[in-house]
Amino acid sequence: MSILVTYFSAQGTTAKVARDLAERLGADIYEITPEKPYTAADIRFVNPFARCNREKFSGLNAAVSGTVENFADYDTVCIGFPIWYGCAPKIVDVFCDGYDWSGKKVFLFATSGGGAFGKTAEKLSPHLKGAEIISGVRVKSGEEAFAEFNK
Ligand SMILES: Cc1cc2nc3c(=O)[nH]c(=O)nc-3n(C[C@H](O)[C@H](O)[C@H](O)COP(=O)(O)O)c2cc1C
Repeated sequence: MSILVTYFSAQGTTAKVARDLAERLGADIYEITPEKPYTAADIRFVNPFARCNREKFSGLNAAVSGTVENFADYDTVCIGFPIWYGCAPKIVDVFCDGYDWSGKKVFLFATSGGGAFGKTAEKLSPHLKGAEIISGVRVKSGEEAFAEFNK
């Protein structure tokens, strides 16, 4: 089984979980990188004009930089991200749109400020056409993510 752990992290929390999970799985790891990194001001959601709010509510494009090499070689892909506005950040949708998911098993994991995983998998699934989402969970650590992956 060939596993890839991909993740987006604006503030480092999900990155830590993803690195730990990849190590436990013996998987390759790939960071989903925005074309323009998010600054602290960009994710200050209390400001209605902050980039995060414009991407979510005003149709501002969220672009990714780079691509996964040999994506076709992986049969299982873990995708990690922070919960933003109750679901995956738009940049994760954009990343997913760039690949062919048919026949892949997908494990979703998210960190959050306390909010549940909720309908995150349903909302992301149109961007993962043909994939089988094996599980979608909110976790606090790589250890927890690893345990959920193996359930
Ligand atoms: C724009 C934005 C929206 C967020 N929305 C939510 C939310 O709806 N529910 C929640 O529990 N936490 C929310 N958070 C908090 C993050 O999910 C949480 O801090 C996460 O662990 C950050 O992960 P990161 O360090 O990998 O970016 C939000 C954070 C940001 C910046």
